[in-house]
Amino acid sequence: MNILLAGGAGYIGSHTAVELLTAGHEVIIVDNYCNSCPEAVRRVEEVAGKHVASYGADVKDKRTMMKIFEENEIDCVIHFAGLKAVGESVDKPIEYYRNNIDTTLTLLECMRESGVKNFVFSSSATVYGEENPIPYVETMKRGSCSNPYGWTKVMMEEILEDASKADSELSVVLLRYFNPIGAHESGRMGEDPQGIPNNLMPYIAQVAVGRRDHLTVYGGDYPTPDGTCRRDYIHVMDLANGHLKAVEYANTHKGVEVFNLGTGTPYSVLEIIHAFEEANQVPIKYEIGERRAGDLPEFWANAQKAERILGWKTKRTLADMCRDTWNWQKNNPQGYKK
Ligand code: NAD
Ligand code: WQD
Repeated sequence: MNILLAGGAGYIGSHTAVELLTAGHEVIIVDNYCNSCPEAVRRVEEVAGKHVASYGADVKDKRTMMKIFEENEIDCVIHFAGLKAVGESVDKPIEYYRNNIDTTLTLLECMRESGVKNFVFSSSATVYGEENPIPYVETMKRGSCSNPYGWTKVMMEEILEDASKADSELSVVLLRYFNPIGAHESGRMGEDPQGIPNNLMPYIAQVAVGRRDHLTVYGGDYPTPDGTCRRDYIHVMDLANGHLKAVEYANTHKGVEVFNLGTGTPYSVLEIIHAFEEANQVPIKYEIGERRAGDLPEFWANAQKAERILGWKTKRTLADMCRDTWNWQKNNPQGYKK
């Protein structure tokens, strides 16, 4: 299949590109590089050993996107293109609503005008909100979010459900990611946050490589086994494989289907730090600090539906996630910059 990856130069999109290319699909990447760089696409080509058609363009730009849809015979769209920093979304809600929702609407319009029927969407565990019990199951109602980023995901899921109700030929797969970490096994691709990392694993990796002095653990007094928050961390290549299965599923089904992509096992912040130290024999300096506003004590996935329907299951361990993160970071201390 020919698969258009909107936001395909980013962390999850680039790893998914490799997985799709390796499975024999063609990919077309569209990215405006607002949170990535063309070097990521070059690395995709290097690792997969294949050429990739890529466009430096804004997915909100309908005219340019229509040209891309006309130039390429597209079978499926995967929509990764979004702004994703939770804290920033509180300060810049208008930018987040504009970018995340507008990219989705533009893609849906281009698909309708070009007769493309398959859509896979990067959603998030954040849509379960603050009220649902854990582990999260797809049958639960979407909850209320504590920040505009989360609301954009809730709204986009609703938009996609309505679009699907109005077009019985449309196939929409909503993938709710839990906490993606890790990097491609080659050490040539990985997560490359701009500025100070917001997320735990890239922060640990930058402490390990000497770019940051120490990690602050946000809160040590949560009602969890060791007092630190617990999350469901998933290797980015397992997540990438979930997209491969989702694309194949979308091609043979109609309507909307939702899948959690997680491992079903939670780990605490302290467990992640110690797993990283053990897997890589590198010390991580940390101190326990204040809680971060908006953090839930713990959540993880019930991942049975993806296994039952997509035949997808995670294969990689927490030690793999730590080893691959470090392999990427130590070989690329400044990320994709030389
Ligand atoms: P990322 O920032 O690395 O990738 C997103 C890509 O989209 C970037 O390359 C960025 O330049 C591009 N982009 C953004 N707006 C664009 C626009 N208007 N036009 C063209 N390109 C645009 O983020 P990621 O971690 O790879 O996340 C991919 C998707 O998955 C996002 O939608 C994110 O919200 C979602 N998600 C991520 C996580 C996570 O923890 N990483 C968890 C759940 C969901
Ligand atoms: C993980 C744990 C922190 C940094 C976020 C989004 C979510 C989804 C995934 C997109 C938490 C702790 C972190 C640090 C720390 N993204 N931590 N010190 O918050 O679970 O999820 O990314 O959809 O919507 O909210 O991930 O990596 O930021 O944090 O102690 O410097 O690590 O408190 O318990 P989070 P994270």
